[in-house]
Amino acid sequence: MTGRICGTGSALPHFRVTNDDLSKIMDTSDEWIKSRTGIETRYLATEETTTSLAVEAARQALENAGVEAAELDTIIAATVTPDKLFPTLSCEIQNALGAVNATAFDISAGCSGFLFALNTVQAYIESGCCKKALILGAEVLSKIMDWEDRSTCVLFGDGAGAAVICADETGILKCVQRSDGTKGMALHCYNRPVNNPYKKNPVDLDYTHMNGQEVYKFAVRTVPKTISEILGSVGVTPDEISLFILHQANIRIIESVAKRLNQPMEKFPLNLTECGNISAASVPTLLDKVNRRGLIKKGDKIVLAGFGAGLTWGAAVLTW
Ligand code: UT7
Repeated sequence: MTGRICGTGSALPHFRVTNDDLSKIMDTSDEWIKSRTGIETRYLATEETTTSLAVEAARQALENAGVEAAELDTIIAATVTPDKLFPTLSCEIQNALGAVNATAFDISAGCSGFLFALNTVQAYIESGCCKKALILGAEVLSKIMDWEDRSTCVLFGDGAGAAVICADETGILKCVQRSDGTKGMALHCYNRPVNNPYKKNPVDLDYTHMNGQEVYKFAVRTVPKTISEILGSVGVTPDEISLFILHQANIRIIESVAKRLNQPMEKFPLNLTECGNISAASVPTLLDKVNRRGLIKKGDKIVLAGFGAGLTWGAAVLTW
């Protein structure tokens, strides 16, 4: 048995912010953001929360798959921006959906989170302890941005994507997940500091810090290598892949991966233009977009790949 993606869903906040909107509140420009990243707009939560976006994406994915919440045995949400430290986002989703038979837990793997959730569910399915799972990537990154740091805050957006994974005869051919903690400080955000009667610290909350060029170099080196390795391991060539659904951080990274794999950009759908970088939600929101537009046909082979904080990276090749 393997895992098959049998339904997708996504949700974005209603409030859309253009590059020009940002240029009115900070020293930036549409020209800089678009030419360096490809991003034109992003959606930022004003009324929504990580949980409300995730629940909406989950409901859509269940409907798309024709699966009832009570049929789920596993729920895994990938997030670095849960609304609460506990209970987990996954348990909140379980409660909202009435998924009474599921075991729910979160994964924190930055922008690779959805791939890590997929890989985990795949291992559960292969071991026989899971038949129907819901996996999600959900983020409200705008709450961990320093809105005075133009080098990070213009890049990120909010949103959630979900997929229902069913045990089946065909589907995922291979998944990999990797990490390199030695480069962790390239993209980091501190949690609350130690603060108790014996050790006092100011409780100022930290925001996202990124060494953009280091992460950029890591991405353009690691992503094509990982995709080539995973394809080679199952005897599939890049030419046989219909779509490469990559984490949406920067169009220049995606163009570089396309070039290194010798594949046309038409095979690399985008949602960063509209949504910016939504971390763990990038891959599943884009997957939902192409699925709902009918751009993937049964039997097509597709690649999913994520990379980001940790540093972490992951990829999957599957038959739709
Ligand atoms: O999802 C997690 C993974 N994250 C990524 O994959 C991000 C990877 N990195 C990148 O995408 C790029 O490195 C960035 C888009 C973050 C930055 O692009 P860059 O070409 O590496 O620009 P830079 O950081 O070298 O900055 C160039 C200039 C600087 O000015 P000086 O020092 O050359 O005068 C910055 O101060 O651009 C300036 N700058 C800005 N200017 C206008 C930085 N941010 C902005 C801004 N608007 N928002």
